[in-house]
Amino acid sequence: MKVVITGGTGMLGRRLALRILAKPELVGPGGASEAVEKLVLFDAFEPVEPPPEDPRVEFVTGDICDPATVDALIDCETDSVFHFAAVVSGGAEADFDLGFAVNLEGSRNVLEASRRTARCPKIVFTSSLAVYGGERSIDDLTALTPQTSYGAQKAIGELLVNDYTRKGFVDGRTLRLPTIVVRPGKPNKAASGFASSILREPLQGETVANPVSPETRMLILSPKRAVQAFIDVHNADDDVLGRNRAVMMNGISPTIGEMLDALRAIGGDAVADRVRSEPDELVQSIVDGWPWFADGARARALGMEPDASVEEIIETFIAEELGGKIEG
Ligand SMILES: NC(=O)c1ccc[n+]([C@@H]2O[C@H](COP(=O)([O-])OP(=O)(O)OC[C@H]3O[C@@H](n4cnc5c(N)ncnc54)[C@H](O)[C@@H]3O)[C@@H](O)[C@H]2O)c1
Repeated sequence: MKVVITGGTGMLGRRLALRILAKPELVGPGGASEAVEKLVLFDAFEPVEPPPEDPRVEFVTGDICDPATVDALIDCETDSVFHFAAVVSGGAEADFDLGFAVNLEGSRNVLEASRRTARCPKIVFTSSLAVYGGERSIDDLTALTPQTSYGAQKAIGELLVNDYTRKGFVDGRTLRLPTIVVRPGKPNKAASGFASSILREPLQGETVANPVSPETRMLILSPKRAVQAFIDVHNADDDVLGRNRAVMMNGISPTIGEMLDALRAIGGDAVADRVRSEPDELVQSIVDGWPWFADGARARALGMEPDASVEEIIETFIAEELGGKIEG
C-alpha cells in the first residue's frame, strides 16, 4: 500500500508515521489487511525531528493550497491519505484568509486530487470538537454550529468528505478529535494550548501561567489514543460508517484543578508549584464555549477507547517524551 500523510511532520502526523512504521499493516481497498510499502510525509516544513531513516519513507515539502502540488502528491498508486495539514484554531481565527485557504481549499485539493486518481482512495480527514458551538454535552447527533472560523472550516470539510464519498470519488472518513493533551514540543497557536503547557512545562523544569479557573472542565485525549483512533477509523468497515462518515472520538473530562492535582501526585510539590494562576478572560470565555462531555456511541462501537485517567496521560507523556525523567 502507498499511504500519504499531509501535515506529516506535525505533532500527530509524525506520531502516526512512527506507529505505521512500527506496525506496517492497514486495511487496504479490498477490505483485507495489507502491508504499507510506501509512506509519504507531506508538509510545508522539513521535519525538525525526522523519524528514523527507513526506505519506505519519503518526505515531500510543499503547500497544500497549491492544486498542482497536491495532484503530484496523490497519484494513481495512492491507497490511503491521512489529511492532517491545517492551520490550528488560534491561527485560523487570527488570519481568516489563511485559515480558509489551508483548512478549506487545501482539503478540497486533497479530495479533488484523490477523485482524479479514479480509484476511490481512503481519505481520513481530521476534524475537531470546534465544530460544536456552546453545548456542554454532545453526542453523535448534536448539530454542528461552529463559533470560530476554524470550526466552520472543519465542519465544511466534514460535509465535503461525506459528499465526495456519496459520489464514489473517495472512501472518506472523518475523525472528530477532542483537545490533545499532553502535546509534546513547543506551544502552538491553538487556543487550547495551555492545557498541555500546564502539564508539560512544569515537568521540564519551567514555570507556566494557567489562564483559566480550576473548575474549568476540558475534554481531552492523549496523542497515543488519538493515533490509535486514526488507525481504527481508517480500518473500520464501510457499512459500519454508513452515510455519515464522521466519528466523534470520546475523551475524558477532568477539571483543570483535577489535572493539576494529578500533576502534583506524580511530580510532587516542586513540579506542581511551577504553575501560577494568571486568569485570562478571553481564554476563559473561549474554553467556556467548548463541550466537556462527549457520548460518542459510534466510537465506542468501533472499539475506540479514550484514556483511563489524567494520571495515565501524564505518565505516558513522561515515558514517551521525557525518557521517563522529570525535572524535580
Ligand atoms: N492537536 C489537537 O488538539 C487537535 C484537536 C483537534 C483536531 N486537530 C487536527 O489534527 C490535525 C493535526 O494536528 P496537529 O496537532 O498535529 O497540528 P500541527 O500544527 O502539529 O500539524 C499540522 C501540520 O500542518 C502543516 N501545514 C500547515 N499549513 C500547511 C500548508 N499550507 N501546506 C502543507 N502543510 C501545512 C504544518 O506545517 C504542521 O506540520 C490538524 O488538522 C488539526 O486541525 C488537532
